[in-house]
Amino acid sequence: MDVFWEALYDHFHGKYEPFFMEIYGSIDEHHLERYFRSVAQLSRIEKRIINECYGDILDIGCGTANYFPLLNTQWNVVGIDISEKVIEVAHKMGNTNTMVGNIFSLPHDKKFDTITMFENNIGLAETLEWTKKLLQKLSSLLKPKGQFLIQLSGRVKDKAYAEVELTPIYKGKKWTAFKRINFNKDFLKNLIENEGFSCKIVRGNKYCLFIQAKK
Ligand SMILES: C[S@@+](CC[C@H](N)C(=O)[O-])C[C@H]1O[C@@H](n2cnc3c(N)ncnc32)[C@H](O)[C@@H]1O
Repeated sequence: MDVFWEALYDHFHGKYEPFFMEIYGSIDEHHLERYFRSVAQLSRIEKRIINECYGDILDIGCGTANYFPLLNTQWNVVGIDISEKVIEVAHKMGNTNTMVGNIFSLPHDKKFDTITMFENNIGLAETLEWTKKLLQKLSSLLKPKGQFLIQLSGRVKDKAYAEVELTPIYKGKKWTAFKRINFNKDFLKNLIENEGFSCKIVRGNKYCLFIQAKK
C-alpha cells in the first residue's frame, strides 16, 4: 500500500494527482478527496455507525481519521494505522489521538467498549484464516459486553468471500499489488457468530451496510 500512503500524503500537501485502482482488469479512480471530507460530508451510513459508538473507542486502519471530530465530541477515541505517513497527515489535520501500529501486534492491556472498522477495513486481514485471527484479536481487545462495528462495501453475492488483488496506478505507473478480502454479508455474520459474538446486519444502501457485533 506504500503508494496509497504516498498519494494521500501528496494530496494533503497540495500535490494532487489522480489515483487509480485496478481490480479484475478493470481500472477505476479511487477518489482521495474522501479522506479529507468534513464531518458534514460524511455519508449517512458512516454517521449511523458513529451514532452506535460509545465509551472507549478504537478505530482500526483510521487513515487520516477525518471522521474523528464527530467521534471525539462525546467519547474517548483512539485510532491505529500501520502507516507512519498517513498518521503524520492525521496529526497535521488535528487528529492527534491516532498512532502508528499494526492491529495484529497491539497489546491487550487496554480494553475498549467499541471497535470500529470503516471503509471495509475487515478486508485488511487479506485471507479467511487471518480474518478469524482478527476477530479473535477484536474479542481480546473488547471489554465484557463490548461491541465492534464493520462498514461493509464491495460485497460478494455469489460466493462466501473473495480474496482480491488490487493494483494501484499513480503518476502513470503501476505499483505493487496488495491483497484484500471481501465478504458475503451472511457468511461474515456466521463467521463472527462462530467466534462467540451476537451479530446483526444493519442495512444501508445497495452499496454499503454495516455489521454490529456484541460480545
Ligand atoms: C481504506 S483505508 C481506510 C481509512 C479510514 N478508515 C477511512 O475510512 O477513511 C485502510 C487503512 O488501513 C490501514 N491498515 C492496513 N493494514 C493495517 C493493519 N494491519 N493495522 C493497522 N492499519 C492497517 C492502511 O494503512 C489504510 O490507511
